[in-house]
This record gives sequence, structure tokens and C-alpha cells, in this order.
Amino acid sequence: FQAGSMTGRKVVITAGPTREAIDPVRYISNHSSGKMGYALAQAMAEAGAHTILVSGPTQLPVPERVTRINVESALEMAAQVEASVEGADVFIGAAAVADYRPANVAQQKLKKTEGMSNTIELVENPDIIRAVAERADRPITVGFAAETKDVQQYAASKLHAKKLDMIIANDVSQVGIGFNSDNNAVWVLRRKAPLNAHDAASGGSEASAALLEESIDQMSKAQ
Ligand code: C5P
Repeated sequence: FQAGSMTGRKVVITAGPTREAIDPVRYISNHSSGKMGYALAQAMAEAGAHTILVSGPTQLPVPERVTRINVESALEMAAQVEASVEGADVFIGAAAVADYRPANVAQQKLKKTEGMSNTIELVENPDIIRAVAERADRPITVGFAAETKDVQQYAASKLHAKKLDMIIANDVSQVGIGFNSDNNAVWVLRRKAPLNAHDAASGGSEASAALLEESIDQMSKAQ
């Protein structure tokens, strides 16, 4: 897509997994590599956008002209998004945010008790993308849905429940296109009328949405 087409626009992207501490040496996490969020950040920066990448732990290098903010937990990611999203034109939630975190983080390494089972109490994490979508000055808000069945139905209900403008859905049960893969095959579901009144008036929503669709499409084909 065209260099310079996002000049003057601010884009905030979340990427990677989150880590939810159990004790000083253990955590709960997932298999997200961060590749999709980093590729989107690179595409947005190349298109001229001021691009902020709020990233969980990954092995990936920071793309050129992208400002990366490193976080570990969902609470840290939520705080950094909150601190950086003001004035953003586009928000893309590509992170695989843990839905739950341990209710209590042990200050010392937990010890094994021979022959005993153990239970970790979990509490719900904040929904980062929903909070962005509920802002009065909401940017165009784009989410991802990684599903293993009924992909399009789940994605459509998430689009509406989280008040997103667009959702990119993929079937992570398919070999070779799921987590940690360089290839992808996706459905892009868009809301018919933009939710961002300011952008709807300026035509920016349509332009940015079209660019996003194009870049995701190209990444799906090229990688
Ligand atoms: O509900 P689910 O986790 O499948 O939704 C996925 C989308 O919501 C992704 O865009 C993800 O980045 C975002 N999300 C979030 N905060 C959460 C959970 C998911 O921003 N706590």
C-alpha cells in the first residue's frame, strides 16, 4: 500500500501475549508470538503513521520508526494503552490478552506439598479493547478473533459486543495458519456504519479501514 497514506495519523497497537504472575518464578500465558501485531505496526509506520506498539513479551525486533512500550501483564498493558491512546486515529488489539490472572501473587516461590493437589484462584482481567471502544474520543477500533470453531459467528458477535469497527477472524485450529505462524488466512468483518463520528464526517474512517483491510490482505498473501 501507499507510503505516506497514514501521515499525520496516530495508531496504537497491542501485540504478543501477556504474562500473569503466580509467584516470582511462575506465570500463566499463551502461545502468541506477536508476529501479527508487529507486522501491522511495521505496515502502519511505513505508511507514515505515528505508531505506538504496546507489547507483551516477544522475541521480535522493534520495527523501524515504531515506538515500543514493553509490558508483561494485562493490567500493565491496560495502563499503557490508557496512557497512550488519547488522540489516536486507529487502535488495533492484536494482543492475546489473558482473560484471567491469579487473584493473589505469592511474594515467595510457592513450595510443592507432596501428594497434595493445588488450586489457583483467578480473577478476570480488564477488556482492553472494549475500554478503548467505549471512550468518548474513540479511535477506529480493530480487534482480532482467534477461534477454533464457528469462526465467523463468534467474530460477528465479538464485533458487536465489544463495539468494534472491524474484526479480523482466523481459525487457529487449521494447521499452518494459527499461532506463531508466518502464514495466515482470515475473514475481515466490518461494521456497516462507522462508530467514530468525527472520522465519519472527515471520511478518515473509511480511508483507514480500507488501508487496514488492504495491509492485512497483503500480509496474508505475502508472508
Ligand atoms: O474475547 P477475545 O479475547 O476473544 O477477544 C479478542 C480481541 O479482544 C482481541 O482483539 C484482543 O486483543 C482483545 N482483548 C483485549 N483485552 C482482553 C481480552 C481481549 O483487548 N482482556
